[in-house]
Amino acid sequence: MDKNRVYVFDTTLRDGEQVPGCQLTTVEKIEVAKELEALGVDVIEAGFPISSPGDFQSVVEISKAVSEPVICALTRANTMDIDAAAEALRFAKRKRIHTGIGASDMHIKYKFNSTRDEILKRAVDAVKYARKFVDDVEFYAEDAGRADNEYLARMIEAVIGAGATVVNIPDTNGYCLPDQYGAKIKYLMDHVSNIDKAIISVHCHNDLGLATANTIAGVMNGARQVECTINGIGERAGNTSLEEVAMILKTHHGLGLNTNINSKRIYGISTMVSTMMRMPVQPNKAIVGRNAFAHSSGIHQDGVLKHRENYEILNPEDVGISSNSIILTARSGRAALKHHLDRLGYKLDKINLDEVYQRFLVMADQKKEISDADLQQLMGDGDEKNYDDKAIKLTLLQVVCGDPLRPMATVKLKINGDEREASAAGNGPVNATINAIHEIIKDDIDLDEFSIQAMHGGSEDVSKVNMRVKYNGQSYYGFGYSTDIVSASVNAYVDALNKIY
Ligand code: KIV
Ligand code: ZN
Repeated sequence: MDKNRVYVFDTTLRDGEQVPGCQLTTVEKIEVAKELEALGVDVIEAGFPISSPGDFQSVVEISKAVSEPVICALTRANTMDIDAAAEALRFAKRKRIHTGIGASDMHIKYKFNSTRDEILKRAVDAVKYARKFVDDVEFYAEDAGRADNEYLARMIEAVIGAGATVVNIPDTNGYCLPDQYGAKIKYLMDHVSNIDKAIISVHCHNDLGLATANTIAGVMNGARQVECTINGIGERAGNTSLEEVAMILKTHHGLGLNTNINSKRIYGISTMVSTMMRMPVQPNKAIVGRNAFAHSSGIHQDGVLKHRENYEILNPEDVGISSNSIILTARSGRAALKHHLDRLGYKLDKINLDEVYQRFLVMADQKKEISDADLQQLMGDGDEKNYDDKAIKLTLLQVVCGDPLRPMATVKLKINGDEREASAAGNGPVNATINAIHEIIKDDIDLDEFSIQAMHGGSEDVSKVNMRVKYNGQSYYGFGYSTDIVSASVNAYVDALNKIY
């Protein structure tokens, strides 16, 4: 084994997909998995098979669709979970079961109501059981960040003895400081007698904004697998972001560590995941944010023009952000559109391309120039693609507003083929429109979260709207986009309604 090689374990489709509102269909997961393969990740955590039939099926289908990376399935430390994982992985060329249990006294006492000795035995039994099905078993010691190091070392030694090939030391709650986490990994390197028989993996959460720093501290102290997600998505404040770790190791080549990541594909997969999961990337996000390479102050602009490296430690082209000269407008043809979609990681066959091209022309008629962000919206707009399948369709929207007019809206909805119309007033055009929809849909639905974002500025810009509504105690998410903010909002609302009904 090359001791300088850092293996990249991607958990976008498991830890990332657990985020409310980010759920993908199996078909979408396959698309992401294929792109992860092209990116060069070593392991894809494809799901948690026992958790739902959908997750189970996704692991099955990803196993069939992807051949290079190891396909990994998550379990708790029990035989039923492990049986389900083994079954879901049956088509995988290279497979891994990821099993584990809590290692901190907090989890042992308050989650399992158990003892250290009993938990250690369950850990060993789970690894032994998983090894009956696969040669590659990863063990996670949940909440290792807060676990006692001496006990953690005993647990890790025991599970390696039982056959674990990879040992994952998660900072489940994002608690550690980088020097504490690094010291924890070093402690294991120094105190686990059989540590040379396994790879140490680092899995960090970002509750204190330290996930990437902790991951790097782990690697600098001997870990050789990093667990991350695209754009750092994940529970609460997220997981370590893959693009940050990959670019840190590439930029600081003095560390002598390398990955198999093809960095030129980073931007494409970042946009793909953000669009599919309806999870916007914050503009100042390292590596992939809209402003990551934008210089606005005069001093910086002058410096960059004189010599790029004055203010850029990374070349945008290295992460797939091209200073492209092929501009997309209403006069562009299919070839130009395909060129940009390929660059962003979307693979289209001819029939699909024709369909997307028609929608592209509609958008290009409303805007002078189509940007990457616009293309993401175009590709992610499930609304229009599956419009015919929806139970509720908006067939008319008419809004009157202005100063000093009282905002009024009229909407027509087709609900399972039956068309209904209503009008209502509101404190603004969006409020009036939603009130009109409520006149038709009499159910008790609360708009709980509403964000509207312009893609890049300018009055002809496309707006995208994310909404969360509550119905019967459950949250539903909707998404819409349009050059008209009221239309974008009502599209998002109708999208959420379709998820309810
Ligand atoms: O954060 C965590 O501890 C996890 C484990 C299930 C690996 O995601
Ligand atoms: Zn996690």
